[in-house]
Amino acid sequence: MRRRDTLPAMKVFLGITGASGAPYAKGILDGLVAAGAEVGVCASSAGIEVLATELYRDASLPRDEVLARFTDHAAGVTIHAPDDWKSPFASGSARIDAYVVCPCSMSTVGTLASGAMTNLIHRAASVALKERRRLVLVPRETPLSSIHLRGLATLNDAGAVILLAAPGFYHGADTVQDLVDFVVARCLDQLGVEHALVRRWGD
Ligand SMILES: Cc1cc2nc3c(=O)[nH]c(=O)nc-3n(C[C@H](O)[C@H](O)[C@H](O)COP(=O)(O)O)c2cc1C
Repeated sequence: MRRRDTLPAMKVFLGITGASGAPYAKGILDGLVAAGAEVGVCASSAGIEVLATELYRDASLPRDEVLARFTDHAAGVTIHAPDDWKSPFASGSARIDAYVVCPCSMSTVGTLASGAMTNLIHRAASVALKERRRLVLVPRETPLSSIHLRGLATLNDAGAVILLAAPGFYHGADTVQDLVDFVVARCLDQLGVEHALVRRWGD
C-alpha cells in the first residue's frame, strides 16, 4: 500500500454565513473536495439566502435544494444543520484539522468576538480558537466601523486568520472567475490545501 493511502483524510469545517461572497465558498468547497478532504458544511439562514441569490439567482430556493446544489453530492461532504450540537464540529474532542467561515458576516464576527455561540458555525469557530486550531474568517464588508474593526482585531488576537475577500489584480485577471480564484487560492493556502488555481508570484 502506498503511504498516501494510509494517511487519514484532512477534515475541514466550512461555515457559510450571510455576507456576500458565495462564489468564494463554492471555490473553497471545490478545492477541498479536489484535494480529498472530508468537509462538514453548515450554512446559517442568511447564508442560505446568499448562496441562493448569488449562485442560483433565486432567493426563494428552499434550504435543502440550495445545499444539494452547493455540495453536488460530492464524496466526503456532509451537511450539518445550524442547531446540530451533536455534530463532531461542536466539540474539541473531535479531530478536525481546520475551520473556515466564508463568507463571514459582521454579525458572526461580533458574535464570535463576544464569545457567544448561538449556532454550530459560532460553536465550531470557538472550538477552533480554544483548541488553538487553524481558523480562517473571510469577511467582505466595507467600509468597516470601529465596532467591526475591534471585533476582527479581537479574533485575530485569539488566533484567527482574518482573510479579507479582497482580490488582487496583479496576476493578470481577465474574468470575474480569476478574481474569485485569487481569494479562494489564498484561503486554500491558509488551510494547507494544495491547488493550482493561481500562478504564484515569482513562478
Ligand atoms: C444578499 C445578502 C447579502 C448580505 N451581505 C452582507 C455582507 O456582505 N456583510 C454582512 O456583514 N452582512 C451581509 N448581509 C446581512 C447578514 O446576512 C445579516 O446581518 C445576518 O443576520 C447575518 O447572520 P449570520 O451571521 O448568522 O449569517 C447580507 C444579507 C443578504 C440577504
